[in-house]
Amino acid sequence: MLELACGTGRVAAALGAVGLDIDFAMARRAVARGVPVVMGDMRRFAFRWRFPLVLIPWNSLQLLDAAGRAACLACVAEHLAPDGLVGLELVDVEPLDAPMAPVHADDTASLAAALTWSGHALVYRRRYTVGATTVENVIELHPVADAELAAAGFEIVDRENDGPRRRLALRPLDNLR
Ligand SMILES: C[S@@+](CC[C@H](N)C(=O)[O-])C[C@H]1O[C@@H](n2cnc3c(N)ncnc32)[C@H](O)[C@@H]1O
Repeated sequence: MLELACGTGRVAAALGAVGLDIDFAMARRAVARGVPVVMGDMRRFAFRWRFPLVLIPWNSLQLLDAAGRAACLACVAEHLAPDGLVGLELVDVEPLDAPMAPVHADDTASLAAALTWSGHALVYRRRYTVGATTVENVIELHPVADAELAAAGFEIVDRENDGPRRRLALRPLDNLR
C-alpha cells in the first residue's frame, strides 16, 4: 500500500503503508512513527513496485494545480497493480468572506485563520502563535470535480460524504488497464 503526501505518517503508520512526501521535516516525523518513507514529488515518482491500494488522504491532491493533479493521477495509474484501487479524500469547504479570526487558543498556543476564494482556489491563511513565536502561512486548496477524475481516466466505484469530506474509491477506466 502506498500513501502519497504522507505528512507525519498519521495514516501510513495506522495502515502499514509506504509513504511518499516532498518535505524532509514531515518525512522525518513519519519515519519516527515507523513508516518507510520515500522522499519524492507526488507529481512524478517511479517505483518498481505496483500497489493494490494508493491512498491520497486529507486534502493533499488539492494542494496541486490542475497540471500537477493530472500528472499525479497519471503516475498513480501507472503504479496500480491489476484490480488496484485509489483511496482519495477531498475537502470541500465553503469560503468565508471574513477577516482572520481566532479558531483556537489555550495556555500555550493559538491559531487564527481566514478562508477566502481567490477565483480559482480556496485560500487558507493561518497564523500560529506558540510562546513568543508566530508563524503565518497560506495554502491554496483547489476544487476537484468528479468530472476531472473521469477525464484523468478513473471511475468512482464507491463514495462516502462526511461533512465537508468526500471520500472516493477510484479505479482506472477499462481502457487504461
Ligand atoms: C495535509 S498534509 C497530508 C497529511 C497526511 N496525508 C494525513 O492525512 O495525515 C499535506 C502533505 O503534502 C505534502 N506535499 C505537498 N506537495 C507535495 C508534493 N508535490 N509531493 C509530495 N508531497 C507533497 C506536504 O509536505 C504535506 O506533508
